[in-house]
Formats: sequence, C-alpha cells, structure tokens
Amino acid sequence: MISFEPIGTIHTPYKEAAPYQPIANDKGEFYIELLPHYEAGLKELLRFRYIYVLFYIDRLKEAPKMRFTPPWLTNKELGLFATRTPSRPNPIGLSIVKLINVIDNKIYVSGLDVYEGTPLLDIKPYIKDLDDKPDANYGWLDDVDNKEHFMLHIKGIPHDY
Ligand SMILES: C[S@@+](CC[C@H](N)C(=O)[O-])C[C@H]1O[C@@H](n2cnc3c(N)ncnc32)[C@H](O)[C@@H]1O
Repeated sequence: MISFEPIGTIHTPYKEAAPYQPIANDKGEFYIELLPHYEAGLKELLRFRYIYVLFYIDRLKEAPKMRFTPPWLTNKELGLFATRTPSRPNPIGLSIVKLINVIDNKIYVSGLDVYEGTPLLDIKPYIKDLDDKPDANYGWLDDVDNKEHFMLHIKGIPHDY
C-alpha cells in the first residue's frame, strides 16, 4: 500500500472540458500553487525552460478499461497502457509545459490540459539531451487516417481544413 499527499494545486481556466494534451500557446492563466512549506524546493527551477508536471486525475467518471477503441480510430482496439487516456488504474497525469515564471510559491506555465483545482503530485525539470528522444516515433498513431490533421487537433493548432 502506498499513499501520496498533493504538494499543491493546479490552476487553469478549465472547469469541465480541458484540451486532450497541453496547448503551447493556450489563452488564459495557468499556474501551479505549491504548498508554502515546499517553496524552498523551487530554487533554480526557473533556469529550466520546460518542466514535467505530474498530477492526480481526481474527477474521473469512467472506470479504466484494459482494451478500448477510441472514437477517432474505430477499426482498432488499443491497450490502455499504449494510450494517454486519463482513466487508468493509477490516475496519474503527466504534462510537459513551458516555464514562464516563479513568484514565491506560484509557478506560471504555458497551457495545461487539466481541470481547475487538479491536485499536484510532483514537478521535475525537463533536461535537454537527457529527456529529448530524437528517434521517438508515433506507434499506432501511424494507423490514424490523416495523422498530420489529427495531430493538429491534439496539439490545438488552429487550421482551416
Ligand atoms: C488525455 S488526459 C492527458 C493528461 C496528460 N497530458 C497525460 O498525458 O498524462 C487529459 C484529459 O484529462 C481530463 N482531465 C483533466 N483534468 C482532470 C481531472 N482533474 N479529473 C478528471 N479528468 C481530468 C480532461 O478530459 C483532459 O482532456
């Protein structure tokens, strides 16, 4: 048995629907409020351009299914762990965002894909070369019709086709 306590709260403009993944130039204020007694742990964080944000996906409505078919890939069944679905046995979310500023116990970041008030579990720096994987691939996303168009949707990039 393990248990975690939140170390802070994530603030976003999203009360119900949120983007499927973080949108780099999303509009609105996105910040993480760390519990004050962890503030000393932010020293030197602002030297990094990107951070990992780990959070507890606390308002799930569906139980996790080990196999499912996404609505946009109707002819394919996927294993849960081959996806980024929020409904998982341990509902932990992971988003990479741009670090904008740190003021006291508040960390201002680019767009996040979580609901207002989502509990924060951890923050880690995203480190060049250590975390970049230039040979990363798309896995089953290669089978999605019009993958490039689909990726624009996921990344929230405006397009007129
Ligand atoms: C697909 S998950 C991706 C999260 C993270 N980027 C990841 O890959 O682990 C993002 C979705 O989770 C849902 N979501 C966000 N915050 C949530 C919360 N606090 N409780 C329940 N669902 C949440 C929203 O539907 C959002 O579109």
